[in-house]
Amino acid sequence: MNKRLSFADMLDHHPGQSAAVLAGKALHQACALMQADGGVLYLLRHDKEESSLIRAASWPETSEVEDIIPIDHPSMSTIVAQTGSTLKFDDAAASEAIALIDRATDFPADMEPGAIAAFALTNHAKDVVGVVTLSNDVSSGRAFAQESLELFARFNRLAGAAVERADLLERIGQIRFDPTERNNRLRQQVEKLAFIEDIEGVRGDDAFRLAISMLARAAEIYDEGTGNHVFRVNEYSHFLGQTLGMDAKYCHQLRYSAQLHDVGKMGVAPTVLRKTSALNTEERREMDNHTIYGHRILNQSPRLAMAAEIALNHHEKWDGSGYPDGKREDEIPLSARIVQIADIYDALRSKRPYKPALDHQQARDIILHGDDRIDAGGHFDPRVVEAFGDTHESFDKIWRNLQDV
Ligand SMILES: [Fe+2]
Ligand SMILES: [Fe+2]
Repeated sequence: MNKRLSFADMLDHHPGQSAAVLAGKALHQACALMQADGGVLYLLRHDKEESSLIRAASWPETSEVEDIIPIDHPSMSTIVAQTGSTLKFDDAAASEAIALIDRATDFPADMEPGAIAAFALTNHAKDVVGVVTLSNDVSSGRAFAQESLELFARFNRLAGAAVERADLLERIGQIRFDPTERNNRLRQQVEKLAFIEDIEGVRGDDAFRLAISMLARAAEIYDEGTGNHVFRVNEYSHFLGQTLGMDAKYCHQLRYSAQLHDVGKMGVAPTVLRKTSALNTEERREMDNHTIYGHRILNQSPRLAMAAEIALNHHEKWDGSGYPDGKREDEIPLSARIVQIADIYDALRSKRPYKPALDHQQARDIILHGDDRIDAGGHFDPRVVEAFGDTHESFDKIWRNLQDV
């Protein structure tokens, strides 16, 4: 059996193995394939505003290689992580002398390297997800031939995506909501809001509603600054609740809860929230977590129980293909199924930096029949779509009444 086949087998037959085990095997295979005496495999992590390399494996195993390297630390590994290029030096000592190589990070501590090479591990989208450095002991006198670049490309096609996927799955399994300072502060605010009695000149219930409107507005400004979006979503949702025959108390709660659907975006890292180019897998997950953050912020108060369930569920889809839990049909609370249609109608009508505004007919047709992005049958509760279809002119009216100036 040739080397390439045995590596493919290793990945295919053990899909559930941990990232560390897989990284160790991958590195071992890379050493065998490119005839290297040792090496280090790092995974690239982006946490909030910082990026770093995390050591996932080294060969021969040694505890003396750094575990975490900040991305701005000068070394061969960090250069490759940032540029995605390959670096190859035949004389490690000379390169170390001019600070192209860092002994503490770029090769196993118990080696005296001669030739050294570093390659970027990439995923299917060609994003750099890690770095592999390989080195030969100076006594062997072997350099890395040009051919090793092609061998690495072949290795990378199998290993890059597999290691990234294993790492991601493992971290998703470990996610516990880690309240940031910002979320703690928000939560305290919400707790206060829930028991608020008066704001100067405004009493009781009105004060409560005014305060959460301000919170919703603050969250919108933090996100896209989309004017009256949240207030229109309140009105569409209230109207849909009535059309569906829900009682007055339910509709009243819907009217002030709907606007908080995206409050969790305040927990999303600003670098991810404001990124204009496509999000990578990790960033997409952080963005999707706004549902979970919102729920954690809001479920502290019994008065905000409906708002919390909307925040958590407004991206679930009728056919189970939504997030964060993949709930389907009646597992998704009705409040969230209503707000979803309200939210999407309003987003379609609004001009955003990446899309033009649609008129009422176009927005209505997309909700009723779908388009290339929205599969109407799979996305929405058919009962809510029907209620929307029967009364769609009222949506246009709400849009006009509360239009942004
Ligand atoms: Fe959302
Ligand atoms: Fe929204």
